[in-house]
Amino acid sequence: TGLFTYDPGFVSTASCSSTITFIDGDEGVLKYRGHDIADLAENNSFTAVIYLLLYGELPSSEQHKKFLLKIQESSKVSEQVTNVIKAFPKTAHPMSILVACFANLSASYHETHGNNVNGEDLDFGISAIAQVPAIVAMIYRHINNQEFTNANNKLSYSENFLNMIFGSAVNNTLFVKALDKIFTLHADHEQNASTAAVRLVGSAGSNLFASLSAGVATLWGPAHGGANEAVINMLKEIEQSGDVDRFIEKAKDDKDPFKLMGFGHRVYKNYDPRALILKDACHEILSKLEQNNELLEIAKKLEEIALKDEYFITRKLYPNVDFYSGIIMNAIGIPSSMFTPIFALARTTGWVAQWYEMVNDKETKICRPRQLYLGK
Ligand code: CMC
Repeated sequence: TGLFTYDPGFVSTASCSSTITFIDGDEGVLKYRGHDIADLAENNSFTAVIYLLLYGELPSSEQHKKFLLKIQESSKVSEQVTNVIKAFPKTAHPMSILVACFANLSASYHETHGNNVNGEDLDFGISAIAQVPAIVAMIYRHINNQEFTNANNKLSYSENFLNMIFGSAVNNTLFVKALDKIFTLHADHEQNASTAAVRLVGSAGSNLFASLSAGVATLWGPAHGGANEAVINMLKEIEQSGDVDRFIEKAKDDKDPFKLMGFGHRVYKNYDPRALILKDACHEILSKLEQNNELLEIAKKLEEIALKDEYFITRKLYPNVDFYSGIIMNAIGIPSSMFTPIFALARTTGWVAQWYEMVNDKETKICRPRQLYLGK
């Protein structure tokens, strides 16, 4: 009945309107609420960026203080979620545990279903953002056979997270600043697959936390947030084999499903501005640590070869956010299986902001794509 457009992967379908994040993929521009990403990453704390994404404006210092207090007050992880984490085998991938934690929280916040939301309910979203660092840190410690650590609310969001992970004062402003930057750069990215999943689930009226759980599940995939872990694994493989060219040739071979991880993007047909910032941050952190990082050298070589290669040039394939982020997290001492959960931690803000925009938008309808039937 009626006509519709056949658009696998929603390559050319806008499924909503939004005032949160703007991307110009041809020019390599990314803005949150009208603020350029480079400026936000350099000059603002991640908590100010959270406020910006949720409320549309950067906070005054008074607003920021009040907001931090609210985050602290809502950051306690329930016994129920603690038990979920403990129930997982130590061999579980941390993303599988994170999916379950949000699914479990959906039981406690069932009232946040789509037909029942008003302005005040932003509190539920803030509690997701407030709890996720402690949850991710607990997952890390669980799979590493370590006792859970307590939050220290006197510390910043990023420093508190690092302390909870490592179980002792990190006291390293370089690491804290780098992580804060990583959080800001990952906080939102308009209608990417996981955000689209959060909106799709929410469009049926399901509650916020059930929607977030779908977001985590989607982000896990290596074509999406899982690419950051895959990049570091690929760089380590190249380091062992010593053969960069073989990986380039493999990525170009259309009979081989292998893709150069951390390369290419649905929207950017130019350098991903987040990758540019992270590449500089990699240099800064490694030179200050006086670490001679072989992985960064391999990444740069890979990039140099790819950007001169006809295959990558004609397809407009450039490094994306996942290409350099893992090298920084590696230098901080975070194992690669935690890279995607850290991405999820940061993206929780974007998912929350987008979910609220969706439920408050009168144009929202249940997301229900059509199909091209080719069967009997
Ligand atoms: N290596 C080799 N070839 C590639 C790559 C790559 N990384 N990415 C795309 N291509 C080729 C692809 O095979 C296709 O070639 P052809 O026209 O000959 O069939 C062409 O480039 C267009 O690619 P596409 O698959 O139509 O692009 P898409 O928009 O559907 O996919 C992507 C985008 C990000 C999933 C894909 O580029 C990819 O798989 N990249 C590697 C994984 C990755 O780094 N993901 C992180 C994405 S950014 C952050 C995030 O979302 O988390």
